[in-house]
Amino acid sequence: MNSTLTAQPLPEIETPLLAVAVATGATLPAALAPLDQATGGALGSALANGDFKGKRDETLLAYGNGKARRVLLVGMGKANEVTVSAVRRAAAVAAKRARVLGTGRFAFGVAAEARNKLTGAAIAQAAVEGAAHGGWAFVELKRPSDELRAAITGVDVVVDAAEAKVAETGRVRGDAVAAGHLLARGLQMQPGNVCTPTYLAEQAQALGRTHGFGVTVLGPAELRAEGMGALLAVAQGSAQEPRFIVLDYRGAGDAAPVVIVGKGITFDSGGISIKPAANMEEMKYDMSGAAAVLGTFETLGRLRPALNVVGLISSTENLPSGTAVKPGDVIKSHFGKTIEIVNTDAEGRLVLCDALSYARRYKPAAVIDAATLTGAVVIALGNQASAVMGNDDALAAEVRDAGERAGERCWPLPLWDEYRDLVKSDIADVKNSGGRGAGSIAGGWFLREFVEGYPWVHLDIAGTAYTDNEAPHQVKGPTAFGVRLFSEFLLRRAGT
Ligand code: BES
Ligand code: MN
Ligand code: ZN
Repeated sequence: MNSTLTAQPLPEIETPLLAVAVATGATLPAALAPLDQATGGALGSALANGDFKGKRDETLLAYGNGKARRVLLVGMGKANEVTVSAVRRAAAVAAKRARVLGTGRFAFGVAAEARNKLTGAAIAQAAVEGAAHGGWAFVELKRPSDELRAAITGVDVVVDAAEAKVAETGRVRGDAVAAGHLLARGLQMQPGNVCTPTYLAEQAQALGRTHGFGVTVLGPAELRAEGMGALLAVAQGSAQEPRFIVLDYRGAGDAAPVVIVGKGITFDSGGISIKPAANMEEMKYDMSGAAAVLGTFETLGRLRPALNVVGLISSTENLPSGTAVKPGDVIKSHFGKTIEIVNTDAEGRLVLCDALSYARRYKPAAVIDAATLTGAVVIALGNQASAVMGNDDALAAEVRDAGERAGERCWPLPLWDEYRDLVKSDIADVKNSGGRGAGSIAGGWFLREFVEGYPWVHLDIAGTAYTDNEAPHQVKGPTAFGVRLFSEFLLRRAGT
């Protein structure tokens, strides 16, 4: 998807679809009068009749005889409550409509009355990000046909001429974030027979070649030499080889890097503690954390901010077989702690604990992991927020703040000492699963047992990485959760 800026007045824009985001109000914003004329007064009458009020996600499509073949009003709610996330969402709603209509491109602007002091740069960035989110479609694996509606090809963001220059920095940033977002989503959507650990490693290597950063891939022999016994234990049931992927972006000399870690289970059957058949196909999405890391590196490669970032991806399948790890087995992790595996379906924390231990060698400024770790987080927070846990309140606040700006929200769960008992084992240093209660916290505490010497935050994205619900602003399926949050976090840290 590409993007451009246009500083032309609304009625001058030649486009198959001109979308204008508006706030609630009883009358048409003055600047839209020429568009109203071009649609034979349709916009004004819809408002006058109360058919369109400008509420969030509300739309009004009208056809005209002006330069825009179609005009789409998109509601954002009350003007004084409009945020950058509201603009992103409105752009996504418009993009989804454009995709369904098959317009290819569309133009998008925010009515002056609805801007609520947002800068041109913020609007341009959000518009491009939203367009990528709402206009997405995965058609790679279908036969071409007339009915098939592919993803939108581009968005033209309408800005004030006076702000065109600053808006351009926002557009460029939005473009880079959107590219990372689309890369992550494409990877998430690939079926498990395509997207294997080896495939993820190849994608990482291709990214490194394109953008010129270092990529190192560890296979079974290197993992044994490193002592990554927890990742190897999960991998031992599968015919696919595991991969541990290290991406190394250097933009600030030898400054301490931020390390981002992704869970890369390319299919999670549960292993010997096998999952029920219903919806098991969704477990191809168990590599969503890894996809978020790879997507973020696409964004970094395009924007080249001044900081150092290391990406770590622990990748394997989790399958049952005659060689698979069994409940009751005790294995030794990279950190040195022994782990009693009481449930082979709690595999995410196993592959991640070796990555968190590996991260110590970078003396990181901060480590953030993203993982589809527990079904319990879906019960706690549904699809609206990821859970955030960690050992450093300031870092957690910084991550949450980045998530708010990025429209990827996080909400805290406590890792109080009292919860540590959840992972105590009778036979080993820790066990990989607690009881029925506090499942997401047990996952967080398990990881914490392998964190040493750096501030760390864990994001449980099991409820946010993909969705079954088609919504006005989003296609059902993967969401690339984490790409925008990581990008916001890192760009802010780089001072850009
Ligand atoms: N990948 C799953 C978590 C998951 C569940 C992600 C639903 C997305 C949607 C994870 O590996 C898992 O199986 N977790 C177990 C942990 C339990 C055995 C302690 C779970 O949540 O049931
Ligand atoms: Mn599992
Ligand atoms: Zn899993």
